[in-house]
Amino acid sequence: MALNLKDYVASYPNFPEPGVTFRDISPLLEDGEAYRQATDEIVNYAKGKNVDMIVGPEARGFIVGCPVAYELGIGFAPARKKGKLPGKTVKATYGLEYGQSSLYLHEDAIKPGQRVLVTDDLLATGGTIEATIELVKDLGGIVVGTAFIVELMDLKGRDKIKDYDILSLIKYN
Ligand code: PRP
Ligand code: HPA
Repeated sequence: MALNLKDYVASYPNFPEPGVTFRDISPLLEDGEAYRQATDEIVNYAKGKNVDMIVGPEARGFIVGCPVAYELGIGFAPARKKGKLPGKTVKATYGLEYGQSSLYLHEDAIKPGQRVLVTDDLLATGGTIEATIELVKDLGGIVVGTAFIVELMDLKGRDKIKDYDILSLIKYN
């Protein structure tokens, strides 16, 4: 029987600042069956899209994307924060629900024409995923889909990426 994955998300009112309710997927990751079910759902989505590479933003995009890449037998490229990647990079700057940041991808991480699935744990305002998509496109990759465990609908992140297909496993208003 399939698990209700929402049962594996913890909610923390007023974190990291007053007025924000933080949705935390730690319980899902700590439960082998729930983590596997979430991964399998994303793997099945990716199988329908003929994906060549997975790209995920630091840090929690790694946790979601790596097991999917492993299962599909394809590569995973990390989109990292400032000062982490040693090689030549492309850069994208974005606004967060709280703050501002930049993400970087190694220039040779994606080959032109490769079909890329972008993964993250959570879609909030969409700034992080939009920046990650920009990096992939800069390198000539084709973003064939985006996949998240959680989507915070009220923050309208999907409006920022409306040209792209979106899979989100758990939705909150
Ligand atoms: C969080 C989360 C997503 C992003 C979602 O990451 O893991 O990547 O914010 O927000 P957005 O849709 O408004 O951009 P965070 O930047 O906190 O980094 P972390 O994964 O390293 O904790
Ligand atoms: N949970 C986890 N990460 C986040 C959130 C959240 O509610 N909002 C922005 N990033």
